[in-house]
Order: sequence, then structure tokens, then C-alpha cells
Amino acid sequence: MKVFVDRIGARGDGIAVTEGGSIYIPDALPGEWVRIGKIKHRRGVARAEVRELLEASPARVTPGCFHYNKCGGCVGQHLGKELYAAWKQEHVERVLLRAGLKAQVLPVLFVPIGSRRRVRMEFRVVGDETLLGFREAGSAWIVDVNDCIVATAGIVGVLPILRQFLPRFGGEGWVSVTELSNGLDVVVSSQDQPDMNLRMDAAAFCAEAGVSRLSWANRKGQTEPILIIDQPIVWFADASVAPPPLCFLQPTAQGETELRNFVLEAMGGSEKVVDLYAGCGAFALPLAAEGKSIHAVEAVVAQAEAINSSASKRSTTIEVRDLWRQPLQAVELDRFDAVIIDPPRAGAAPQINQLAISSVPSIVYVSCNPVTFARDALLLLNGGYKIGPVQPVDQFVWSHHIELMAQFTRIAGK
Ligand SMILES: C[S@@+](CC[C@H](N)C(=O)[O-])C[C@H]1O[C@@H](n2cnc3c(N)ncnc32)[C@H](O)[C@@H]1O
Repeated sequence: MKVFVDRIGARGDGIAVTEGGSIYIPDALPGEWVRIGKIKHRRGVARAEVRELLEASPARVTPGCFHYNKCGGCVGQHLGKELYAAWKQEHVERVLLRAGLKAQVLPVLFVPIGSRRRVRMEFRVVGDETLLGFREAGSAWIVDVNDCIVATAGIVGVLPILRQFLPRFGGEGWVSVTELSNGLDVVVSSQDQPDMNLRMDAAAFCAEAGVSRLSWANRKGQTEPILIIDQPIVWFADASVAPPPLCFLQPTAQGETELRNFVLEAMGGSEKVVDLYAGCGAFALPLAAEGKSIHAVEAVVAQAEAINSSASKRSTTIEVRDLWRQPLQAVELDRFDAVIIDPPRAGAAPQINQLAISSVPSIVYVSCNPVTFARDALLLLNGGYKIGPVQPVDQFVWSHHIELMAQFTRIAGK
């Protein structure tokens, strides 16, 4: 069947609007004529593969990655630069508009290719070979990867050494590699605990691979250090922290800087600030370094402890608290001049409900999900806040993800 592709969907598929309904076609661009294979229906969505590209869009570029269209990560690598930027921009604008949120959306800020500082890959030993890579989209198959153009050179460089060492952990599992200021932080998860021989050979592996900490994780994700050569350190502007294995970190240092600059500028005139969903202190610690009085709230104990043991924390107070079940109440929030809130993808409805009835003058909301951001933003607007310009940041280059942030200020008398 021959179809014309009308637009790109939120997840990067081309969408052909036909008499029979919309068909989602990966790797197809608006303005293209394509011959498609069998249409498959899943959860009410019609999907088809491109069999033949009959008329290519001038905006199409050759993907730079050998694994494009297989590993399932970079769905937008075939988009030319302008079309790619427009896709991300329009996605944010469309989501906000659909939710009924009126706000100015600033041009998307982009991070460089090759700046992703953490990857998580699967491994499986098959005969004499070790497959190491990402899961193929919608399948259990591992796409064996030697190169990844979104990851930092430090991460890509360690893959051949990892590939040699991983079978020592058993037949299959996953590995997380994070590039930090003083080397790589590697966590391997496998069925069985590492044996004594592996532990004895860990020093040689770490030295060869530039690994500062090697840990093992059980199936529940609980970690145990195998060898720490140098305590891993991450710098948030001029503040440093020793992050626990598998802690939350923004995917790129450059994107994190953009988020932090926005937050710091918005917090300029505020003295007493509460940082909700504080992670390892990416915002709290640099603000503390500026002499502000900071209260950081985070549910993961190891992350809260990392903030607490940072030499940069100054007078920061730290609270371990589940903000979904036990949000800060309006009376608690009213002690602060400003709030930073940076929740997971689910958003922060219970906490936002309390903020909406608080009298906090200023809130900066950082989000990795435009849908929950829009929902939460409307609650704040209904509670008497006004929204400033929304700034999108594209940290997951070529994926369908996008981050965004905005400042909310309480309207006088509301
Ligand atoms: C998007 S991250 C932001 C972290 C930090 N602001 C940063 O930029 O590095 C969200 C954080 O919320 C924490 N978190 C998740 N659920 C939570 C909850 N119910 N209560 C408090 N913190 C939670 C996670 O552990 C994670 O550190």
C-alpha cells in the first residue's frame, strides 16, 4: 500500500492520515510517499513498516549511527537539523495547548552530540561471544553495540574492555556506566554474586578501563562495591558531591548546566529556598554555595546522605521524605521565599496541590514530561500563580524525550 506521510508524532513516527484512520510509520517523514508493509493493530494504534521509500523529503538526512532503527533509542536521527528542532518545539507547544495551558514557549536549547554521561546496556554471553548493547525496540533481542554517537567518548571507549570482562559476572545481566569527574562509575547486575577470582581481578580491570568504582547490583538493584579506586565525584558548578551508585543524575552535564542556570537566575532574590525532589543536590548545593539557606527534600536515603556529606553543603538542611505520600503542607511551604520542584515523569500532583494553596512567592518547576508538567502547571494557575516563559531543553538527543522548566510567581492578592 502506498501512503503519504502528513506529520511526525510525539514518539518520532511518521503519521499517514488515510481514509481508514492514522497509520504510524517509523522512519518516515512528513511530505514523503512510502510503500508500507502489513498494518498491525496494537492497543488501538495502526502501525506499519516502510517497505520502500518512493519519494524522500528534502529534510531527510542519513543517520550517523550504524545501529539507527535497530537499537530503538534515537528515533529522530533521520531528521534534518531544522525539522528536528521544529519537531521538539512543536511537541512541547502542542502538549501545552492541548492541556489548555497558555504560555510562551522559548526556543529549545540543545546539548552537543556525544554528551550523554550515562548508559545502561544489557549483556548476554552467546557461545564465544558477548552481546553488549541496547534492547531492540519492543523485543528482548540485544542490539550489539560497539559505538554510540550520543554517549561520551569515555563511555564508548570502555565498551571493548567491558565486553571482555562482563562474562566473568555470568551469562547475562545489565551494566550501567556513568562518566563522572574522576573516572567511570560502573555497576554490573547479574544473577550471582561476583566470585573471589573476579574480585581479585577487579583492580586490573579498573586500571585498564579507567573505572574509579566498580559495583555489583542484585536483581533488586541493591548495590555492593567490588572495588573503589577513587571515590567518584560529580561537580555541580563549584559544588561537589560523592554520588552513590545508580543515583539520579541529569543525563548530560551540559543540560544540567542549562537547568541550573535557569534555576539559579530565578532564585536570585530569594534567601530561603526549599528544593523538592533534590536528587544529589544539583540545584541545592550550588545555591548553598551562593550563601542561600537551603532545605533539600529527597526520598532516596543514599542521595540525601550524599548531599549531607558534601563539603559544599554549608548550612543546607536535608530531609528524607516521600513527597507523593507525604507532601510538604502549605504551612510548611510558607516558611520559604521560593520552591524548586523537579519531580519524576509522573509529576507531583499531591505536592502541587499544597503549593497551590501556599503563599510561596516563587516556584521553579523543572520537568522531564510535558504532559504532567502541563497538568501540574494548571493547578498552580488555578491556585493564583502566573507562569513565565517555558524553556525546553533537549538532553536526550534524537529520542522523543524533552525536558522543560518555568517559573511561577504568585499574583498579588490571590
Ligand atoms: C528528576 S530527579 C531530579 C533530581 C535533581 N533535582 C537533579 O536535577 O539532579 C527526581 C528525584 O526525585 C526523587 N524522587 C522520586 N520519587 C520521590 C518521592 N515520592 N518523594 C521524594 N523524592 C522522590 C528521585 O530519587 C530523584 O532524585
